[in-house]
Amino acid sequence: MNLSQNQPIGVIDSGVGGISVLKCMRELLPNEYFIYVADSKYAPYGEKTNVEITSRVLAAFEFLNKQYVKSVVVACNTATASSIQILRDEFNYPIIGMEPAVKPASNISTNKIIGILATSGTLSSAKFSALLTHHETDIHFITQPCFGLVELVEKADLESAELQELLKKYIDPLLKKDIDTLVLGCTHYSFLKPAIRKLIPNHIHIVDTGNAVANHLKHVLTEKNLLNKSGTLGVTDFWSNSLDQNADQVIKKLWSQNLNTFSYKGIWA
Ligand code: DGL
Repeated sequence: MNLSQNQPIGVIDSGVGGISVLKCMRELLPNEYFIYVADSKYAPYGEKTNVEITSRVLAAFEFLNKQYVKSVVVACNTATASSIQILRDEFNYPIIGMEPAVKPASNISTNKIIGILATSGTLSSAKFSALLTHHETDIHFITQPCFGLVELVEKADLESAELQELLKKYIDPLLKKDIDTLVLGCTHYSFLKPAIRKLIPNHIHIVDTGNAVANHLKHVLTEKNLLNKSGTLGVTDFWSNSLDQNADQVIKKLWSQNLNTFSYKGIWA
């Protein structure tokens, strides 16, 4: 397959969480044309089986293939854990996945007690077990599945009493164990950083993966000579299958960036 620099880059997630990663990529790669696909109708992925997630992710890839993407970023820890190998076996362009920032957190942590918030799907995956085992020798990891958070972020609820109560329920036990670093292992949770910050002492580091993914994407595109060098500002198209009438408003609120290059396209599947 011949790929060219001017083709778009697809970005997928179970819903709107991957927009937190897209923001980092947009900033680092201003000339690229991004197409974001939110599978919100089927969110959350966190409690689905690998087979179910893979079939949803393949549907999003099929949609993106019709738009002739040169690369796809799976901006979802859960989908990466369940499906990345199948996707790489199936498609010939570069596919970027993501995983909870266990390695960066291990480097930052001083007391070596690290909390990890993620979906139950990510935490129970073989990929995540392998990642932890790799770093576990001198570090104590405390994992916490966070049921219900994704659903709230899907409504752009980043600060309600219900949200704060849920966060407290998940974070308090980690604070009692004296963590000094907190990993946000789900792209939806990155939008909750301000709310989380209010609940934890200042000395605790919050680590997520958006910037690392953006840097990795740039590296891969450069290496494969696929970086868009047109010099013109790239656009960002958003597609969703959310049943929420206000899906575009939710996305706009979370995007909270320059709307000149923003385009809400509507329903993709
Ligand atoms: N945003 C996703 C992640 O990074 C998935 C959340 C979900 O749908 O459960 O894991």
